[in-house]
Amino acid sequence: MLDKVIKEVEEQCREERIPMLGPDKAKLLASCIEKAKPSLIVECGTAIGYSGLWICRVLKNLGSGKLITVEIEEVNAQRARANFESAGVADLVDSRIGDAAEVLKTIEDPVDFLFLDNNKDGYFACFQAIESQLTNPATIVADNVSRVEQMADYLNHVRSNYESETHWFESRRRRSSSDGEGQRQRRRDGMEVTIFRR
Ligand SMILES: C[S@@+](CC[C@H](N)C(=O)[O-])C[C@H]1O[C@@H](n2cnc3c(N)ncnc32)[C@H](O)[C@@H]1O
Repeated sequence: MLDKVIKEVEEQCREERIPMLGPDKAKLLASCIEKAKPSLIVECGTAIGYSGLWICRVLKNLGSGKLITVEIEEVNAQRARANFESAGVADLVDSRIGDAAEVLKTIEDPVDFLFLDNNKDGYFACFQAIESQLTNPATIVADNVSRVEQMADYLNHVRSNYESETHWFESRRRRSSSDGEGQRQRRRDGMEVTIFRR
């Protein structure tokens, strides 16, 4: 059932142009979680739950771990909750609505995995909001790091203070054009995987 819902949500995101991680990046995220075996994952930017469902699939296979996921748009969060229910993983997820940088300040449990996929200029604020709760070590994965100008503060901080590696992905997107045919445009984007240590 979980795999079926992941496929359906992926199709919905494509049809409705809802931003989502996509399968290639989701596989990297899944492998980072398998390696870290976290007790508590915090995700910033739920959208309608595509990446959250991938996270839950790994947690289910590991047999432990919970996800707190934060989304600012209530409509998105409600759709994500319905998707977690349909996939049978709602018991693994605490879905919260609000500005991630504010919601993260209210988390009191130790966090051993952070996934940043919200507003790009908010990554550093989210990191700072949760830093005191991060375990030693903790894994942090940040998406869309090609948008370096929007998250220079975050990237400069993690790259100069911790072990941090950028993983690059190539994609081809159809762009509409005047003849209606559209053109495929190559895009390069990355995910930053950081091992935080005190
Ligand atoms: C790229 S999408 C997330 C995609 C999702 N992680 C996935 O792969 O399925 C970014 C999401 O972050 C949400 N967002 C934007 N600013 C936010 C904020 N300050 N706090 C929490 N969520 C935010 C947007 O509403 C949007 O749904």
